[in-house]
Amino acid sequence: MLEMLDQLETRALAELGAAADPAAIEAWRIAYLGANGRLKSAMAGLKDVPKDQKPAVGQRLNTVKQKLEEAFNARKGDAAAAPAPPSERIDMTEPGLIDTSTIGRRHIITRVRDELVEVFARMGFDVADGPELEDDEHNFIKLNIPDGHPARDPIDNFYVDDPRRFTKPRMLRSQTSTVQIRVMDAAVAAGGGRLAGPIKVVAPGRVYRPDTVDATHSFMFHQIEGLYIDRGVTMTDLKTTLFQFARAYFGREAEVRLRPSFFPFTEPSAEFDMRIQLREDQPVRWMELGGCGMVDPAVLEACGIDPEEWTGFAFGFGIERLAMGKYAIPDIRLLFENDVRFLGQL
Ligand code: DAH
Repeated sequence: MLEMLDQLETRALAELGAAADPAAIEAWRIAYLGANGRLKSAMAGLKDVPKDQKPAVGQRLNTVKQKLEEAFNARKGDAAAAPAPPSERIDMTEPGLIDTSTIGRRHIITRVRDELVEVFARMGFDVADGPELEDDEHNFIKLNIPDGHPARDPIDNFYVDDPRRFTKPRMLRSQTSTVQIRVMDAAVAAGGGRLAGPIKVVAPGRVYRPDTVDATHSFMFHQIEGLYIDRGVTMTDLKTTLFQFARAYFGREAEVRLRPSFFPFTEPSAEFDMRIQLREDQPVRWMELGGCGMVDPAVLEACGIDPEEWTGFAFGFGIERLAMGKYAIPDIRLLFENDVRFLGQL
């Protein structure tokens, strides 16, 4: 019996030591010290112990009971003081199982497009969209580029239909200015034949031109078009908008300028340039970001907008050029080769 009590004590203390949380400690209490616990049954066994051994066994029973109660009270105190250990331990310093260098990311052109839209959105511009497969009415005629204009030469455009045989030949749009026409037409249609309120949109998208590829040209690239039509819009609004945009996107120190130019759909027209050093071994120089100007009254009229009531400005910038300026990318081809060693740096 004494031996049995020794074993009971050793086992009980070991199990209590291994109990990991308050629930386990309570379960231990019930198992050993409870009304039907092991200590109670051991005490019940005392009656079968030979008389001469009873005092020794009884004493031993008492010390075991005392020890277990003390041990239990001590553990209960620990468990209450210490926060419950988390059921699952996470080692935050352990390297992850996923190799992050292989996770994809959005292409730099997509990111720059979204950044530009975001900057213009803060200036109150909505986003508009138009098809890449266009026709010459939207790409040329309504933009005041009539038949016989050199810009319509098949050498300089990707016609889908032969322009000599079709009246409205389809083509891959050569400029996002097509979206200006679509937006104005839609606004006039929505107003039942007249413009009912201002228009303020930007339209990012792909454009196509059979240009020879070099460091700053490609046969497909992206533009972001802007159009703002309201009562009393002036060239000052255009300049303020573009200079604010440049500072917001390139930083306070951005050096930009407007240079007089010509576009059939704006009058007056200007080119928007920025001073930039694309490579350390090249000098700082002015890079053309795109064109802009006051919407030509002929364009407003072609869309059914009264130029006596409404005026507006427009602009169209190359997104690749803006990306090159922002991220000091020296060659446009890097943006299309999609070498992940290059893309991973941006
Ligand atoms: N569409 C012109 C181009 O691709 C750029 C441009 C110039 C857009 C003047 C405009 C503008 O909206 O007003 O070269």
